Amino acid sequence: MNLSGLIHPRGVHHGDRTETASTAGQSVASVKHALQGRWLGHPLHPIIVHIPIAMFALSLIFDLASFVRPQQTFETAARWSMGLGVLMALVAAIPGFADYADIRSDHRGSKTATTHMILNLVAVAIYIASLLIRWRLPVDPARVEILPFILSIIGAGIISFSGYLGGVMVYDDGIGVGRHRRTTELPGETIKTEGSEEGWTNVAADDLTEGETIRAKVGDTVIAIVKHQGRYFAIQEFCTHRFGPLSEGMCCDGRIKCPWHGSEFFLDSGKVSNGPAKVDLKTFKVSIRNGRIWVRGD
Ligand code: FES
Repeated sequence: MNLSGLIHPRGVHHGDRTETASTAGQSVASVKHALQGRWLGHPLHPIIVHIPIAMFALSLIFDLASFVRPQQTFETAARWSMGLGVLMALVAAIPGFADYADIRSDHRGSKTATTHMILNLVAVAIYIASLLIRWRLPVDPARVEILPFILSIIGAGIISFSGYLGGVMVYDDGIGVGRHRRTTELPGETIKTEGSEEGWTNVAADDLTEGETIRAKVGDTVIAIVKHQGRYFAIQEFCTHRFGPLSEGMCCDGRIKCPWHGSEFFLDSGKVSNGPAKVDLKTFKVSIRNGRIWVRGD
């Protein structure tokens, strides 16, 4: 699922409805950006998610303690820490959904992200079931019942594996890295272009907002097209440092900053302005004709 198309003001062109849809789209985008932690300069989901993980782990420790030394204090503590874990997991899910909404539909990590989200929801459902059983069947108040205990172990296993997938998303696939520095929407997908006229390829409508980027595959080359200070620039999509996606970077003072490790490149020449990258970017010619953006892919 990618909500970018729903909340993006571009692409709505029906008279009065344009303004209404645009205003609504901007409001939704503002809420989404706030949930992504752009106001804080740090993503919110990875900050909050530690709390439910800690609470679920604590609850398991109290369960085990109730088996070793049966007493109601442990059983009660297990219940309450699990309840708090469920509550905070639901809170953490809100910025998680906002982050998920911005994953490019053709991103190689999007399936991992979907699996991560589904596993988390399943784990929370299992914890809720465990919690309900604990509250409804207090046969021995000093020791946790075996069924809710087994459910807790299953929940912990799922949460652990899902956490591992969260790490894969960030460290292997680079999902969400540096996104909080952006002020504009991210490309929702890679534009697939077909055919060209005398070396020029028709990529998209000339309706990008300031600072907005799109990502397009022109022939075999993936290109980032950027609107900055009223001008269009086209550069190679992948950073020369470790291949970070520059269409997810941020523009400032005629330069683009890679979202992964902060290398900066001049948009007009592709030259490195700040490392760690040492190799310049390839740039491409851009032309605006009949309301469309054209790129020369050689
Ligand atoms: S990948 Fe761009 S700075 Fe490292």
